[in-house]
Amino acid sequence: MSRPETGTDDGGPSELIEQTGAALDEGQYPLAITNNRDLYELELRRVFGRAWVYLGHVSEFAEPGDYARRYIGEDPFIVTRDENGELHAFLDSCMHRGAQFCTAESGNTSHFRCPYHGWTYKNDGSLQGMPHMAEAYQDLDEEEISLEEAHLDTHQGLVFGRIADEGPSLREYLGDFAWYLDLLFGTTAEGMTVVGEPHRWESDHDWKTSADNFSGDSYHVLTTHQAGLETENLSRGPWEELDDFPGASYLACTDRHSIGYYLSEDEGTFMGYPEEIEEYLNPDLSDEQRDLFSRSVFHFGTVFPNMSIIHGIQSGGWGGPWACIRKWNPRGPGTTETTSWWLVPKELAGDESFLEDSHRGWESLSPGGAFESDDLTIWEGISDSSGAVTHELRDTRGNMQQGMGAMSDEVETMDDPIHGPAEVTSKGLYFDERNSRTILRSWYEMMREETPATDGGTAGRAAGEVDCGADCGTGGGPEGET
Ligand code: FES
Ligand code: FE
Repeated sequence: MSRPETGTDDGGPSELIEQTGAALDEGQYPLAITNNRDLYELELRRVFGRAWVYLGHVSEFAEPGDYARRYIGEDPFIVTRDENGELHAFLDSCMHRGAQFCTAESGNTSHFRCPYHGWTYKNDGSLQGMPHMAEAYQDLDEEEISLEEAHLDTHQGLVFGRIADEGPSLREYLGDFAWYLDLLFGTTAEGMTVVGEPHRWESDHDWKTSADNFSGDSYHVLTTHQAGLETENLSRGPWEELDDFPGASYLACTDRHSIGYYLSEDEGTFMGYPEEIEEYLNPDLSDEQRDLFSRSVFHFGTVFPNMSIIHGIQSGGWGGPWACIRKWNPRGPGTTETTSWWLVPKELAGDESFLEDSHRGWESLSPGGAFESDDLTIWEGISDSSGAVTHELRDTRGNMQQGMGAMSDEVETMDDPIHGPAEVTSKGLYFDERNSRTILRSWYEMMREETPATDGGTAGRAAGEVDCGADCGTGGGPEGET
């Protein structure tokens, strides 16, 4: 296979970025971009410094004072709901000497007191005071001191933060993908709620690998998870109805994000939720969204850069149905901390029998479940090998060519209105890697731009004008370049 002309050959991070853009046109990419120290430092600035990054769900911050530690890239932010009900995301770094002022992962407080010298901040980020303020800081204008704050906005209860001052609003950033988020997180009239604390675990894999996998990689399932599929009892539940499962599978790729889903022919599938789900459906769903959900079996997708979704049907062996949000927190080159949230429709949050089954489904994809360790072993191996000097010196290309050009006659572009606004393909079984190309193209588009500049310390004050009650809804973020 010939390689695209790049006109570059020094192997540095800038060259690798440009080579990625050129190689992607041919469905390839330099393997050396995975677990690459130099690129990683740029990713923290150019991707995580620029993108809207998922921080949590509004149900985790239901009451004034609720807070939780969350990350944008490697930066520790504290998401809070202040006494007026507004959401914020503050960098956990005191404005005196930079000490971390929050020592718990989550909780409820009206103030944060820095453990170093005692400066104290309200949960809206403003400075409340400090020891010996009257004697030692006579000329200080405390109004000028407040915690560094990220821009913050929500969509369907999903809380996102952004460091850069300039950029698209959250709604613009989500683009056509909002149609799918509206379906997945606004399924019922009351929306989704997080149950319990999210799980976290660290592994030696590159965050891009898992973001790619969840964006629509069905191809790995029967190989990576073969043993798990053979040992789990899949013979009960709605899986039975899917004679040709997973033949009815689709990929919907917008300009930045990607989702895959499996559909049944049966319009009453509803992912195996208890039958009351039909009564609870959100009246704001369009007929197309409702039809798609009624036939849904499985959804899995990635909001670039590092939020993924997996929503699975009830099945005898696995439990379920269950909805999960994953976040792939970068923790160094080739290292990722995964956070996994379990969500259910609020209307079903009191149904013990449903919760038991749903929890079992969620746990099937956790480090203690049958399938997670399969993936982690593979992903860690990718990280290990992709950091090889051999790949760098030989300029080795990985392959994402499924579904391109003459690779497969099976890939069919869909214009059936049941699908949302995106480039939708029916991929038979496993014949399209458009999802992977979409996610990596998003990476390339951000990495090729210079690191974003900020005007210093004003980010959250603009975002703070957004009224984040139960849900901010759409819009509200700063407008600017796209
Ligand atoms: Fe926080 Fe000194 S570093 S009070
Ligand atoms: Fe997997």
